[in-house]
Amino acid sequence: MPSFLFTAPLPGPAEEMLREVGEVEIAHGYGPEELKEVAASGRYDVLITQLSDQITADVLDGAKIKGVANFGVGYNNIDVDSATANGIFVGNTPDVLSDASANTAMLLLLAAARRAHEGERLVRSGQFQGMTPELLLGADITGTRLGIAGLGRIGKAMARRALGFGMEVVFVQRPPHDREVSDDELGDLAGKVEQVSWDELLETSDHISLHVPLTPDTKHLIGADELVRMKSTAILVNTARGPVVDEQALVTALRNGTIEAAGLDVFENEPDLADGLAELPNTFLLPHIGSAERSTRARMGEMCAENALAMARGGVPPYPVNR
Ligand code: DGY
Repeated sequence: MPSFLFTAPLPGPAEEMLREVGEVEIAHGYGPEELKEVAASGRYDVLITQLSDQITADVLDGAKIKGVANFGVGYNNIDVDSATANGIFVGNTPDVLSDASANTAMLLLLAAARRAHEGERLVRSGQFQGMTPELLLGADITGTRLGIAGLGRIGKAMARRALGFGMEVVFVQRPPHDREVSDDELGDLAGKVEQVSWDELLETSDHISLHVPLTPDTKHLIGADELVRMKSTAILVNTARGPVVDEQALVTALRNGTIEAAGLDVFENEPDLADGLAELPNTFLLPHIGSAERSTRARMGEMCAENALAMARGGVPPYPVNR
């Protein structure tokens, strides 16, 4: 009988699906030592993990598991090369969360631009004294240029939303080193979005939204040098991964008015924030809930279960990261 370990309870039918075919245990708050121990124990065929689980080479070398089913499209928490070297499959949950994640990016852009958090606090504190012409003036959206860094599935979903809001969209597909994207790859976006250089994107975009995976190339893609090249009225949105932005450099830039505001769903050292970030009025902050729409999260759980089941049976997962 196959056996599965969830490192946290998942929304949706995942647990039930796997209980029908095997043994299921749910762990809570396992650290690296516990993960290493359960992986090596031989008690489980598949670990069902999440972003906060660090599945390092140390966990994977000598692990007696067939697979790791990661809850999320991103898998930077897993050393995939080590998994492959150890004959362990890794699966993820692509596509299904693209719309929900882009919805969050748009929410962050609008909220940071229109100072939604400041307005909300004003109303709740009882200090709202009626509409006045200059109350909480914010940044323009319609008619401005959005720079999308990373035009994958989520970046494309963000581009569609931005076009719907009357924005002009430019993109770099894989910053900082790009390759030309054909109209075929752009699909419905062909002729509606323009590929530009990374320099041009930084310098000419009114606002920038990040949609790149975290890799050695994209770590600190936005640092002090990039921030000074952005417009002083720009809003930076990050729903990708925290370390894509040098968070301390961002705090300095936001404090000095180098850029106008930021909307962030991810942080460099989650759940901790860089010194001073939480105190800045020009940030709209969410707790990594990019894909947290009910049906999206339920489907992600289901995909994890589908991956886990296939791997427990010795096969390739339907949503594979390695083979
Ligand atoms: C993802 O799917 O990668 C989300 O950020 C959750 O980890």
